[in-house]
Amino acid sequence: MLTIAGGEPVRKTPFPAWPVHGPEDEQALLRVLHSGQWFMGGHITQFEQAFAAFQQAQFGIAVSSGTTALQVALEAVGLRPGDEVIVPAYTFVATASAVAATGGVPVFADIEPGTYNMDPASAAAAITPRTRAIVAVHIAGRPADLDALLALAKKHDVRLIEDACQAHAAAWRGTRVGAIGDLGCFSFQASKNLCAGEGGFITSNNREFAEVAWSIHNCGRSPQGAWYEHPLIGSNYRISEFHASLLLSQMRHLEAQTATRSRNADHLSSLLDSIEGVLPMDRDPRVTTHANHLYIMRYQSEAFGGVSRDRFIEALRAEGVPCSAGYRPLYREAAFNAHFRDWPFESAYFHGKPDYSAISLPVTEQACNEEGVWLTQNMLLGPEQDMEDIAAAVDKIHRHADQLRA
Ligand SMILES: Cc1ncc(COP(=O)(O)O)c(C=O)c1O
Repeated sequence: MLTIAGGEPVRKTPFPAWPVHGPEDEQALLRVLHSGQWFMGGHITQFEQAFAAFQQAQFGIAVSSGTTALQVALEAVGLRPGDEVIVPAYTFVATASAVAATGGVPVFADIEPGTYNMDPASAAAAITPRTRAIVAVHIAGRPADLDALLALAKKHDVRLIEDACQAHAAAWRGTRVGAIGDLGCFSFQASKNLCAGEGGFITSNNREFAEVAWSIHNCGRSPQGAWYEHPLIGSNYRISEFHASLLLSQMRHLEAQTATRSRNADHLSSLLDSIEGVLPMDRDPRVTTHANHLYIMRYQSEAFGGVSRDRFIEALRAEGVPCSAGYRPLYREAAFNAHFRDWPFESAYFHGKPDYSAISLPVTEQACNEEGVWLTQNMLLGPEQDMEDIAAAVDKIHRHADQLRA
């Protein structure tokens, strides 16, 4: 009997906790504490070099969050008031709010049904003469279709920014993300696969973009200039030595943790393949490393006698498997229409003032309202048996779906 109907749960023990830390992390923090150098010291420079090299990028700038990384990246490519930036509608709010916060207009593209990443055809249809950039989000840690999105950006001479906030270590055709577009943005917020509570990072292989980004994150200073010389308007988006030291220490585990998540995610996908009604995301050989920040499965209610996705989630949680429905379509957030209510510019995409109330993107709606079920990355860090428990819980709900309709 299903647990939600009074039975015994499949899983009675918790999944691995996150974040994880050990004595080396404690020493890393204490080293900074006792050094008295809590600001702009050697750990930040060392981390910037190490993480940029890890992501195979030439330049790296540590910043205060993934959100500020996106804002700085957008400013670095020269976003001007009223410029349009194409973003997927299925992502964390910061991908789009960073555009609005830097004076631009977010234009939402739909996602692909098999990956939940931005659909390049939908992005192409959203291009106007005011498009300045495209933000490719690597949702759940799976690289977006960078072949198609790079070609699109090149064709229209717009910049491609990678939102890799969920995709540390992920790679597309053997090259790590953040080193493929003009700039890459990462987050080290507490839930992320590499974390220090808060923090962010900008990668680039373009010296000019990297120098402008460095300047903006450091009060508008110039890398070569005097301390009180400010050629640009910037802000303070720096991190502390504590963050950098902890990140250096945490980074030593990133490769091994990524491999464990990959192994477990692949195993879970192969187990779900044989259960009707819950589909793993499509496999693609061009995704040479998937960061698996989330494991997303696609629920098909017809196979469960019409039971809703949200009821399935309640049942799966009751079986001892923490899970959630994930995002809402971003264009529905009240913030966007509120922001543009007194907007003084015309938008080419909207033929007037930006107004998101009529937007509805079918694949995004399906993912948000009917299909998407999320597991978090820490659940992929334990033994293989954990995947078997998750699959057994899904299978049990499928076999007893009639108990959910009562
Ligand atoms: C896709 C995406 N973009 C941007 C962000 C923003 O990062 P932060 O929370 O560090 O500001 C996040 C973090 O949740 C994210 O998942």
